[in-house]
Amino acid sequence: MPLFLFKYLIKAKGVIILKLVALVGSPRKGGNTDTLLQKVAEGFTSQGGETQTFYLNDLNLRGCQACYACKKTGQCVVKDDTAEIFKAINAADAVVIGSPIYFGRFTAQLALVMDRLFAYLKPDFSSSLAPGKKYGVVFAQNQPDPKLYAGCIDAVGQVLGRVGFAAGAKPLVGSGLGAADAALQNEQYLQAAVALGKELAAVNKE
Ligand SMILES: Cc1cc2nc3c(=O)[nH]c(=O)nc-3n(C[C@H](O)[C@H](O)[C@H](O)COP(=O)(O)O)c2cc1C
Repeated sequence: MPLFLFKYLIKAKGVIILKLVALVGSPRKGGNTDTLLQKVAEGFTSQGGETQTFYLNDLNLRGCQACYACKKTGQCVVKDDTAEIFKAINAADAVVIGSPIYFGRFTAQLALVMDRLFAYLKPDFSSSLAPGKKYGVVFAQNQPDPKLYAGCIDAVGQVLGRVGFAAGAKPLVGSGLGAADAALQNEQYLQAAVALGKELAAVNKE
């Protein structure tokens, strides 16, 4: 099928433009995580989708307060910028989450949001998230071995799967990235990020 036909998903009610939400867990704007997530967004938009990016470090975010109010009301009652993230995720077809590795794990900024996804679990702990949302994960690390922090990447997948996301795309691990512009100099990672974006855009076309 020609590419332009892939640009829009035609549904009974009309033309639906696919939406991707990108969560940047690095405080370093223009750094490796941000660069790779921008490339994922580029891949996604090249297929006719639109993207919305949240720089978590710029937001007013609190961790989960364990109040369990979401189990009674169906919504998180903590008033902060997570409400905007929830709104965007609810409207999205796919989510891509990116973080640098800090001391063997993802950043505190991302951890805050991950815990808040608890609100997507109903009182019986089934998911209230609309089905079929796919996810991608992108990590940047200084260490050269891309498998070194596999446990951390699995942890992200476990949370997202638990709260009701559909199967994830293959994670992109940018290893050996120290300086903030290291990803920008790495054509292989840039291309892999664009490919991930295209893969996420293909989610609902079947
Ligand atoms: C507080 C801190 C802890 C870090 N810990 C690790 C680590 O455990 N393993 C590693 O490979 N890189 C570590 N790094 C390096 C970053 O993961 C790496 O430079 C990454 O590319 C930064 O991504 P960014 O440009 O998106 O911020 C650490 C960096 C910082 C600032």
